[in-house]
Formats: sequence, structure tokens, C-alpha cells
Amino acid sequence: MALERRIALVTGASRGIGEAIALRLAQDGCDVAVNYIEEPQRDNAAEADAVADRVRSLGREAACVVADVTDREAVADMVRYVAARLGDVDVLVNNAGITRDRTMRKLAPEDWDQVIAVNLTGAFNCAQAVVEGMTDRGWGRIISVSSVVALTGNFGQTNYAASKAGIIGLTKSLAREVARKGVTVNAVAPGFIDTEMTRAIPEDVAAQIVQSIPMAAMGTPEDVANAVAFLASDRAGYITGHVLSVNGGVYM
Ligand SMILES: NC(=O)c1ccc[n+]([C@@H]2O[C@H](COP(=O)([O-])OP(=O)(O)OC[C@H]3O[C@@H](n4cnc5c(N)ncnc54)[C@H](O)[C@@H]3O)[C@@H](O)[C@H]2O)c1
Repeated sequence: MALERRIALVTGASRGIGEAIALRLAQDGCDVAVNYIEEPQRDNAAEADAVADRVRSLGREAACVVADVTDREAVADMVRYVAARLGDVDVLVNNAGITRDRTMRKLAPEDWDQVIAVNLTGAFNCAQAVVEGMTDRGWGRIISVSSVVALTGNFGQTNYAASKAGIIGLTKSLAREVARKGVTVNAVAPGFIDTEMTRAIPEDVAAQIVQSIPMAAMGTPEDVANAVAFLASDRAGYITGHVLSVNGGVYM
């Protein structure tokens, strides 16, 4: 197996792309920590438990861990908990993300702050909490989920696109800092992937988006998970500071 006995921590792994990444890394041999956050009107703990059960049914260890990635202390506690339950984190996947779409004219400052806090500062918090252990041990993978809109911009997404472009700057800079220590730092930039996030887009707009994709279809969470699993594997050992597009050709 490509990742036999590695310990992976995937943020926002109770559903969507994070869930697919958790399962794909488990298929490749990782024990997986499934991070989730409580959200109003849904049972994310139960969803995270179901993901952990599926990891276990693949023959790997799993642990669910609740933590808001914007909360630095909670992130530090999460990393300690994962170390105690599964072992030190070898593979961090910064997947947790939110949107609060509005044109700049109407964008509330809180919606700017919250998107930057989760998507960008959250990735910083998690990376900082694990990177020293990785460099000390001489092996590690930090993979963050950016977006095609980091590269293109998008109407109504100044906050989201800025956060996802920030991920790219963080990735390339940290990649340089740890390149000699056996740790690679990469990002994936998904296009339009069929998850709850994109199901919130009005149907007519979604149809227009699909028409603009050369492959004429939205991607699946598994398409993104396959790219993450590759970057996590030893096969990608000489790849660092890279942004891997998974977008059906919508931006090239
Ligand atoms: N769906 C797409 O088309 C698409 C495209 C490009 C990038 N992305 C990115 O992929 C990632 C996953 O998105 P998705 O489409 O699966 O959406 P999703 O809304 O289904 O999943 C997001 C996950 O992040 C979690 N989360 C939110 N805030 C959190 C916090 N503060 N702490 C911990 N977890 C938190 C949610 O509970 C959820 O599990 C996000 O970073 C998103 O920006 C998605």
C-alpha cells in the first residue's frame, strides 16, 4: 500500500470532499483522524462516526475529533488527541472550508473575516500544529484544498477566492521552509465538484457552469481525493509547492 501505517488528519471530514479523502487515504493504508465541527441543524458527530466506521471497515484505525480549525487551542488539543489515539500526524489535509458569497458591495465584514478565518487561518493553525513534528521525524505531507477560483477569481467570491489564493501562498512558502526536512507541502485546486457546497448554487447557474467545463460534467469528491492521495504518497516525494488542478479542464 502506498501509505501503509501513516497517520492522516483530515479536517472537515464528516462529509463531501473531506469524507472522500479520509476513505481514499484509508484505502491506501492510513489510519485516519476524522475532524469535524458541530453545525446548527445537523448531526456532524454522527456523520463523522459513520466516516470513521467506513475507515475501520477498510481495516484501518480511525478516530473522530471535534475541533473548530479557527480555534488555535482546540487545534493543539486535537493534534495531541490524535497522537495519543493513533500516533503522530504524518499527513495533514486542510480540507475544512466555507463560503459566504456576496458581491463586495454587499459583503458584510464578518463574512470576510469568517471565510478567511476558516479557510486560511484554519489551514495555518493546523499546519503550524503538526509541521515541527514532521520535520523532527523527517517525513510529512501537508496538502491543502484550494480552488480554481484562487486562479481565476469569481463573481461574488472576493472573500473565498482571497482565502483560497492565500492557501497557495502559504503552501509555496512553507514548502520552501521544510523542503530539506522530508516534508512536502502541496495544494489541490478543485473546479466544480458535486457536494453540498455546490448544490447550494441555483440550478440554472449550475447548468451554465457545467456547459463551461470542457469535460461537460462536475467532478466527484473522489476525483479530488485521488489527487490528494497521490500527493500524500511516496510516488509524489519530489513534488513540493505544487498546485494540482482537478477541474475537468475548466481552467488550464
Ligand atoms: N465543492 C466544490 O466545488 C469545491 C471546489 C473547490 C474547493 N472546494 C473546497 O473543498 C473543501 C471541502 O468542501 P466540500 O465541497 O466538501 O463542502 P462541504 O460544505 O460539504 O464540506 C466542508 C466541511 O468543512 C467543515 N467545516 C466548516 N467549517 C469548519 C471549521 N471551522 N472547522 C472544522 N471543520 C469545518 C464542514 O463541517 C464540512 O465537513 C472546502 O475547503 C472547499 O472550499 C470545494
